[in-house]
Amino acid sequence: MKVLIVGSGGREHAIATAVAKSRGVDKIYCAPGNAGIGQIAECVPIGAMEFDKLVAFAVKESVDLTIVGMDDPLVGGLVDEMKAAGLRVFGPRKNAAILEGSKAFSKDLMKKYHIPTAAYENFDDPGKALAYLETAKMPVVLKADGLALGKGVLICNTLEEAQEGVRTIMEDKKFGEAGNRMVIEEFMTGREVSVLSFVDGRTIRIMSSAQDHKRAQDGDQGLNTGGMGTFSPSPFYTEEVDAFCRQHIYQATVDAMAAEGRPFKGVIFFGLMLTQDGPRVLEYNARFGDPEAQVVLPRMKNDMIEVVEACIDGTLDQIDLQFEENAAVCVVLASQGYPVSYEKGFAIAGLERFEDAPGYYCFHAGTKQTPEGIVTNGGRVLGITAKGTDLKEARANAYRATEWVSFDNKYMRSDIGKAIDEA
Ligand code: AMP
Ligand code: GLY
Repeated sequence: MKVLIVGSGGREHAIATAVAKSRGVDKIYCAPGNAGIGQIAECVPIGAMEFDKLVAFAVKESVDLTIVGMDDPLVGGLVDEMKAAGLRVFGPRKNAAILEGSKAFSKDLMKKYHIPTAAYENFDDPGKALAYLETAKMPVVLKADGLALGKGVLICNTLEEAQEGVRTIMEDKKFGEAGNRMVIEEFMTGREVSVLSFVDGRTIRIMSSAQDHKRAQDGDQGLNTGGMGTFSPSPFYTEEVDAFCRQHIYQATVDAMAAEGRPFKGVIFFGLMLTQDGPRVLEYNARFGDPEAQVVLPRMKNDMIEVVEACIDGTLDQIDLQFEENAAVCVVLASQGYPVSYEKGFAIAGLERFEDAPGYYCFHAGTKQTPEGIVTNGGRVLGITAKGTDLKEARANAYRATEWVSFDNKYMRSDIGKAIDEA
């Protein structure tokens, strides 16, 4: 079987690694990929938003299955275009990817189907949003409706900050068209947990839980990033939490999408907050998390292709999804200065240490192959993942492995998984 993966980050490297283990796979392509993916797949220089070229490539090479890793092409309708060309593809159609593509849509869906989430109002007029703020309780959360690279959420402590935020999103259009509409919602407190799931339109199978670290600096300080590290499972995702989410959130979301005529096939990522009043949905994503995939997929026992095909064929009810009874931690090695500005093009040394190290993974994100070797090519450069019998061991292993690689301006958080000690 020939498989095409669309994307170029650590998540796609983790997906490619899982696909490479699958029995039936003899060729993997990745568009556009990166230097690490290039070691297990053939990278093709087609961007994730070049739909016509992706379709033409998949047709020409007789690709049997395409897996779309990234949000932009999913929300933009790549799956629909591929299906129209008779191709087999894993991921939600455009009318279902809206679950991530529009926060206003997802909030309305949750309200209509009584799925627990923060109280909110949607606005498409800045004047009305500003008027609403006069009566809102602070802090308040402002969200640009559309995709904004995970940056379209502002938590405002004062009325002045919130007014400024509305102008930033809706008038200055800091997040572009994503800010044509916005959600203003109640501020909640609690631990965050990421739960990924496979969905076939009707049936949902939950993967092992994870936790991300979104801020750039230790102690959850600094700017929001794409994610600086993860661990899985989350010790805070207890059986009680799981039971609540199964009863009120997971199947309810899948059923709601089906009832709306938008059956969801692919991965639903539930961003949950464990509040004092129980779990609440912070957001949905229509794909694997990055870097959640880097700690969840290495622990999955099932054959990735079997699960993906079951989602496409609507036979997920026949899959018994299983995870190893261990733990994994991923520490992201970034370029100093990320997420604002940073230099690229530095040689990376030590990558070969991972070749013969079972339970250790070096997932590439911003890297590039050059005639002189592999160099840094982005803000997040590598995701160093290690397994362990428990979270503490996995964390010690992951941090040990971060020492194996070196490059100029290497930066990482030193407290990924610190919450483990509080569990
Ligand atoms: P989102 O993209 O909607 O997940 O928001 C990004 C981050 O903002 C979340 O991971 C939370 O840390 C924070 N956040 C979002 N919504 C809320 C909320 N209602 N209350 C508190 N924090 C929030
Ligand atoms: N790690 C959060 C995300 O992928 O959106």
